[in-house]
Amino acid sequence: MAAVVSSEGRFLIYNQPFIRSVYRAASWWANVEMGPPDAILGVTEAYKRDTNPKKVNLGVGAYRDDNGKPYVLPSVLKAEEYLAAAKLDKEYAPISGLADFCKSSIQLALGDDSTHLKNEVNATVQGISGTGSLTIGAKFLKSFFPGEKCVWLPAPTWGNHIPIFKHSGLEVKHYRYYDASTCGFDFGGAIEDIKTIPEKSVILLHACAHNPTGVDPKPEQWKEISKVIKDRGLFPFFDMAYQGFASGDVTKDAFAVRLFLEDGHQVALSQSFAKNMGLYGERAGAFSVITESKDEAARVLSQLKILIRPLYSNPPIHGAKIVAKILTDSELKAQWLKEVKGMADRIISMRTQLKDYLLQKGSKQDWSHITDQIGMFCFTGLKPAQVERLTKEFSIYLTKDGRISMAGVSSKNVEYLAHAMHEVTKN
Ligand SMILES: Cc1ncc(COP(=O)(O)O)c(C=O)c1O
Repeated sequence: MAAVVSSEGRFLIYNQPFIRSVYRAASWWANVEMGPPDAILGVTEAYKRDTNPKKVNLGVGAYRDDNGKPYVLPSVLKAEEYLAAAKLDKEYAPISGLADFCKSSIQLALGDDSTHLKNEVNATVQGISGTGSLTIGAKFLKSFFPGEKCVWLPAPTWGNHIPIFKHSGLEVKHYRYYDASTCGFDFGGAIEDIKTIPEKSVILLHACAHNPTGVDPKPEQWKEISKVIKDRGLFPFFDMAYQGFASGDVTKDAFAVRLFLEDGHQVALSQSFAKNMGLYGERAGAFSVITESKDEAARVLSQLKILIRPLYSNPPIHGAKIVAKILTDSELKAQWLKEVKGMADRIISMRTQLKDYLLQKGSKQDWSHITDQIGMFCFTGLKPAQVERLTKEFSIYLTKDGRISMAGVSSKNVEYLAHAMHEVTKN
């Protein structure tokens, strides 16, 4: 067997069928179990296999136009033309990302006249879209947050929040958020729970267009939440993955983040340009900590860079250059603001049509939550058995929790969807 240990001999022996099977049994990975498939990707796979021409995929979390096709924003195409013509180099970005990108991202979130930005108290780095930005935030909190190493998430929350924080070594707990009896915000439950969160813990808040429920607090409720979080001495971490995509107005969607800063909170903020610029695969995002002083921001930034360096060294440049071009060119920015409003408006109009068709089909249920909710997703309130019937009998694909992606609803399938929803809910 001596030949087995020499690299050349090992290859020869390994190629004999018997020896190969022995080797396989002794593989380093023999004990790795098959993991469960991703719940949402599983929905898309099942949809692809279905041959029904009427099939509808409402699982996917990406915007579709009224023909059900992916949409590349014209402002993005223009920015790309500019980048191609400028024949820019492909050098590495700095560890913290492209400076123009970081500056314009945080400005979009906090507003052009933000005193925090004037005072340069923000530490902002480019992240790998929203997921990567949240991960940098989680790792930073694990290393430097001086309080409880526990993050309180709304129940329910975006599925990926849980592993992002857990894998970074933080404990994860939940506060009440969604009220299944009204398909709306459980304001009373949320306030009650937040009041009992141990002081100096981290609380994660969806800045707008809560995923998966589509349920956001009203401005007055945000004010109360801000006050309770302040009284309790909690640290707010905002996840803003849908700025502009919720209401169609980037200022309105940033209301909560700006309110918390006005109220004197220091916050952490994750941003994503996947949805509002349709840059899903470009992975453009940002992570910021709004600190007490310029000096503190510089120290935080230095530590963020130390965390990022071994993770991926420095972020990708193409998407960040598109974002920076759009946000720093006044004409392109004006165009983009119209386009993001166009996406939000199409979704809002699909909500209205879906509700109207349900009434037209004779549904006696209260479907007002369809139009009260906001953003990409609608938590329909459908039960697992009803979801199963939608899929089996009507080839309509969605996650078991009854969440539909409004982006997959179009003028061509909305009536069919309403008919199917009525059929499975009428008894
Ligand atoms: C609430 C929330 N946060 C963050 C993200 C991150 O998305 P990405 O990493 O594609 O920017 C998403 C995407 O669905 C989301 O819904």
